[in-house]
Amino acid sequence: MSIVVNDEIIEKIRDSSELVNIVSGYLSLKKMGSNYVGLCPFHNEKTPSFTVSETKQLYHCFGCGEGGDVISFIMKIENLSFIEAIKFLADKLGIPLEENKKVDEKLVLEKEKIYRINIEAARFYYYNLINNEKPIRYLENRKISRKVINQFGLGYSLNRWDGIYKYLKSKGYDEKDIEKAGLIGKKKDGIGYYDKFRNRIMFPIIDIKGRVVGFGGRALDNDMPKYLNSQDTLVFSKGNILYGLNLVKKHSDRKKIILVEGYMDVISLFKNGINYSVASLGTAFTQNQGKLLKRYGEEIYICYDSDKAGINATNKALNILKNEGIQPKVIVLPSGQDPDDFIKNNGPNGFEMLLDKALNYMDYKIFINKQKYDLSKAEDKIKFTKEIAKNLRELKSPIEKDVYIDKIAEDTGISKEAIRNETLGVNHNNGKTIYEDKYINNKYRDNKNKIMPIKIVLESAHLTAEKTLLKLIIEDKKYYNKIKNQLTKEDFLNYECNIIANIVFDEYSNNPELIKIDSQSILERLKDEDNIDFLIVNEIMDKKFDFLPEDKEKLMEDLVGTIKYSKLKMKRREITEKIQEIESKKDKNEGDVRKFKSLCLELTELDKKIKSYI
Ligand code: GTP
Ligand code: MN
Repeated sequence: MSIVVNDEIIEKIRDSSELVNIVSGYLSLKKMGSNYVGLCPFHNEKTPSFTVSETKQLYHCFGCGEGGDVISFIMKIENLSFIEAIKFLADKLGIPLEENKKVDEKLVLEKEKIYRINIEAARFYYYNLINNEKPIRYLENRKISRKVINQFGLGYSLNRWDGIYKYLKSKGYDEKDIEKAGLIGKKKDGIGYYDKFRNRIMFPIIDIKGRVVGFGGRALDNDMPKYLNSQDTLVFSKGNILYGLNLVKKHSDRKKIILVEGYMDVISLFKNGINYSVASLGTAFTQNQGKLLKRYGEEIYICYDSDKAGINATNKALNILKNEGIQPKVIVLPSGQDPDDFIKNNGPNGFEMLLDKALNYMDYKIFINKQKYDLSKAEDKIKFTKEIAKNLRELKSPIEKDVYIDKIAEDTGISKEAIRNETLGVNHNNGKTIYEDKYINNKYRDNKNKIMPIKIVLESAHLTAEKTLLKLIIEDKKYYNKIKNQLTKEDFLNYECNIIANIVFDEYSNNPELIKIDSQSILERLKDEDNIDFLIVNEIMDKKFDFLPEDKEKLMEDLVGTIKYSKLKMKRREITEKIQEIESKKDKNEGDVRKFKSLCLELTELDKKIKSYI
């Protein structure tokens, strides 16, 4: 067995490593805007100028100019050669390097052949396009200029059965290989081949490395299917690529990416200056495509056709993106239109206005369900509210939840109380699961007796950490600025601390000029709260702090660490409880065994994290 390091392995290593995680193993990084910063490990500095971009997977030091990707980072910091760095990372990421070299090389050669055939085919299609009046006229009608034809490398497949076949044969390619590239198919009788793409506008599908991996073809006349895509090949897998991502990578700043349905949408937006849209390839949007979007863009928008299929696809894509931890927005087009139609009629300004009005997850769900139900009918009103309550349950922030409960109450005339109860319906408190709505403080509750807050008992170090942190951030906004990237207000678990954190976080984020928070104003807001332990409140508000400013910084870090550590331990307890529950079952079914395994895995992962704090 020999060790193989080829382009594929290198690509795999780049794709599977998270630069932020790897760098964090050597220095501490803090999130700043869309990047992470820290003290440069390659030169001596006191203020951090070492920047890591999560979306671009690159680092750069503004102090010493050092920069690169994950491989160059490891080479430099571990003082390794290129190959050694690859081995180091492969080992860390669990990517096997020992493979049968022969098989691997054969595969690489086969792939290279397909790339060559594809590029040759793209040239031929392009040549056919610019030399044929019919397709040129078609594109002119669709307002696609020569410049855009060139930018996207569009082409035309002749209206005959042996166009690409004869051309590529004449270039010396073997018919077996042309078939493997997906351009020709075996005739039914088994003798000879035929062109798969005929009389179609051809869209080369190009990966982010600039390689032609496949084609989409749109029928010029009313042939069926309207669009035909290359079959999956050794170099083309529809669910793992997005049309237009190569151009997004090249032309846009990658802040925004818009997901659309079709090739024509991407092209139409691009020629109107919106150079940041991509399309999935005729198949449903996949989890891997979600990962690609996460990797290449910061804000993701979905802009599918405004028809029934488009709405279904939008809901699916929303879920897929949410699974990736993305909070996408939806651009809603007028009924029956696609982005291509819309921008043709309204221009780029019109489109940008829509983009500004894009709806977040919850707003989109409300919007869609309002169309589905007639809110003047009692029955529909109930269905609407039940439907929305399901979505409300998924919201983490109690405040956000409350804002939407208000909104729905207003829209439907159903009482807030009823909506809230519907939302809470499935949240059982069996003594183990923690009630999500324990955070809702009285200010946001209109019937105090309906929801009793559950108080969780925290370890004393954890409670002290929450109290002390609050004291610090109330005293000076600079501490708030420091922790807001590490903890959210929901991270404060103690009931009193949570209420105060909600007030303090909101005050600071709503009033940018505020430099500290007046304790009196907090006390004022708490005075109507029942159920509150004023001993804890007073401990947070009262005492002055005898720490030097520089010690406070250190203290803050320790406190954040304490909270995170304690939360991990709480999570651990929850998992071990679940494991024990399954273990104690007499008849374990398949589902139990699966659950058991996944819990054990989760436990191992958790233990790794916990270890890193000790
Ligand atoms: P135009 O009619 O040219 O404006 O295209 P469109 O973008 O409006 O087309 P449509 O909304 O019908 O399709 C959107 C995308 O779905 C296309 O870009 C294709 O990727 C895919 N698609 C559409 N029709 C078919 C089909 O018949 N077969 C396959 N495989 N994919 C299709
Ligand atoms: Mn269209």
